[in-house]
Amino acid sequence: MDAIRIYGGNCLNGQTRIQGSKNASLPILAATLLINGTCEIENCPDISDVYHMQRLLESLGCSVEREGTLVRVDATGLSECRMPSDSVGVMRSSVMLVGALLARIGSICMEYPGGCVIGARPIDLHLFSLRQMGVAIEEKENGFCAKAAKLHGATLMLPFVSVGATENLILAAVLADGVTVIEPAAREPEIQALCEFLQSAGAQIEGAGTERLVINGVKSLMPVRYRVPADRIVAGTYISACMCTGGRVFLQNAPVHHMKSVLSYADKMGAAIEYESDGILVIGKDHESTCNIVTTGCYPAFPTDLQSPFMVVMAASTAGGRIEETVFENRFRIVPELRKMGANIMIHGNVAYIGGDSKLHGAIVEAQELRGGAALVVAALSAEGTSIVTNRHYIDRGYEDIVLSLRDLGADVELA
Ligand code: UD1
Repeated sequence: MDAIRIYGGNCLNGQTRIQGSKNASLPILAATLLINGTCEIENCPDISDVYHMQRLLESLGCSVEREGTLVRVDATGLSECRMPSDSVGVMRSSVMLVGALLARIGSICMEYPGGCVIGARPIDLHLFSLRQMGVAIEEKENGFCAKAAKLHGATLMLPFVSVGATENLILAAVLADGVTVIEPAAREPEIQALCEFLQSAGAQIEGAGTERLVINGVKSLMPVRYRVPADRIVAGTYISACMCTGGRVFLQNAPVHHMKSVLSYADKMGAAIEYESDGILVIGKDHESTCNIVTTGCYPAFPTDLQSPFMVVMAASTAGGRIEETVFENRFRIVPELRKMGANIMIHGNVAYIGGDSKLHGAIVEAQELRGGAALVVAALSAEGTSIVTNRHYIDRGYEDIVLSLRDLGADVELA
């Protein structure tokens, strides 16, 4: 069955290694399309989203090999300009291939991308900005075709910050004629990783990690080897689990520099964090909470991807709390499932009010998207009794063997 069974109530104690970042691996794999020759991407997580991206690259004519966490991509044979709809349908990041494909082969047809069901998630900003770079786009009911004889640089003033649009436009701009300015650009660590990868391949990008990116198009890029940073969202998920169950958990390789906001909230919400040279030790539940109010936002604010796991922390605490979601309008889908486990949560617009002292109990609950699914596993770990989280495939999109990692931490979990 596509599920995880969790016998709740164990304190977590132990250590686990944090996998490479999903949200950094995907655009970097897309960026290999811009390069003739073999790129080697180290620390690529073994998760289904990366597997789908590998398949997409293969179907476009690239040669792709995986050896453990090393993925080799040679895009010399890139030929196809239509993406297979089964992979596009499940993964929103497939849209990231558009900028790179237009730069390399000048045309692309695809269906509108899928991904988590956490809001409308349109791609209007991507298409609006690509048009300013010389792309002709014909939109149809289920998809679009885009064509550009040659992309040219442009000053792209965006109405709001988008991670995916920033990545797509960077990929379109690095080989375009002239200078592209992207403002406001997203500042997420994953954008910085993409820029580092491209810079090491010869791209001219200024302002990575700031709100203003200036990209001077170059004629070509060269193959490189790059190591993907650790996944701050996976690390944050395990922090939330330890906060719910109590115990002491060492997260090896946790990318602390990218987690300032999460670590500061965790500290205010009662966790103790000890910093070591190769990771962090999280001590859950022994401390008094001084603040249970979280507002999500673009980096460096608290990440929307950790909103559901931290909602569970609040539901499992005596104090309860309040969460304001400012990025995705539909990211409270987990609430009815948490109520089945005894949580007391009220939604008003984009704010969730979480009553404390709920004493969560086991239940059969349904994962409906990636991070919400992982959060249900976190809730089940702290609940009394047995839970089953169905639709495990959503969780597999972003977590490398979550069952094994949780067992390393002393949890009583199994595939069901
Ligand atoms: C990326 C991350 C996702 C994270 C999100 C916000 C990846 C693979 N995914 O998603 O995990 O939760 O950033 O940090 O890196 N929007 C539009 N039109 C557009 C583009 C976006 O209206 O053309 C809206 C979206 O609906 C959303 C907001 O802008 O409400 C932010 O979306 P965006 O930053 O683009 O998120 P993604 O790149 O999809």
